[in-house]
Amino acid sequence: MRVITYGTFDTLHYGHILLLNRAKAMGNYLIVGISSDEFNKSKGKIAHFDFETRKSFLESLRCVDLIIPEHHWEQKRDDIVTHKADIFTMGDDWAGKFDDLSDLCEVRYLSRTPNVSSTLLRGHL
Ligand code: CTP
Repeated sequence: MRVITYGTFDTLHYGHILLLNRAKAMGNYLIVGISSDEFNKSKGKIAHFDFETRKSFLESLRCVDLIIPEHHWEQKRDDIVTHKADIFTMGDDWAGKFDDLSDLCEVRYLSRTPNVSSTLLRGHL
């Protein structure tokens, strides 16, 4: 089974790793879409690390098989088809937000790890 998930994954932290490990455990191939710097800017979000650095951190994780850039909100449907994803998963801060993708693949939300976030870490950096 092929699993796909998305995020900014800035200041890579244990909440991200727990999410990614659980996502990988749903299948055997994990695709991670990372927000491009331009996409973050359009959302009013400024990451501490740029796209290439965030990508290089995720590449060092054994559970991640493929990393793709996310340029805009509407590309998920195409990505699911192109990369033959069977499962789309996100943390439950997004619960219900991507249910419309369920005509293409299974949509699952995972419980978010409490007390850690990139926003919190950025505040300390
Ligand atoms: N995530 C999680 N537990 C956390 C933080 C994030 O499970 N404590 C999950 C999110 O639900 C999402 C993925 O990790 O599925 C990527 O989230 P991202 O938005 O990049 O991380 P955050 O730490 O939430 O970043 P921010 O504070 O900028 O929103």
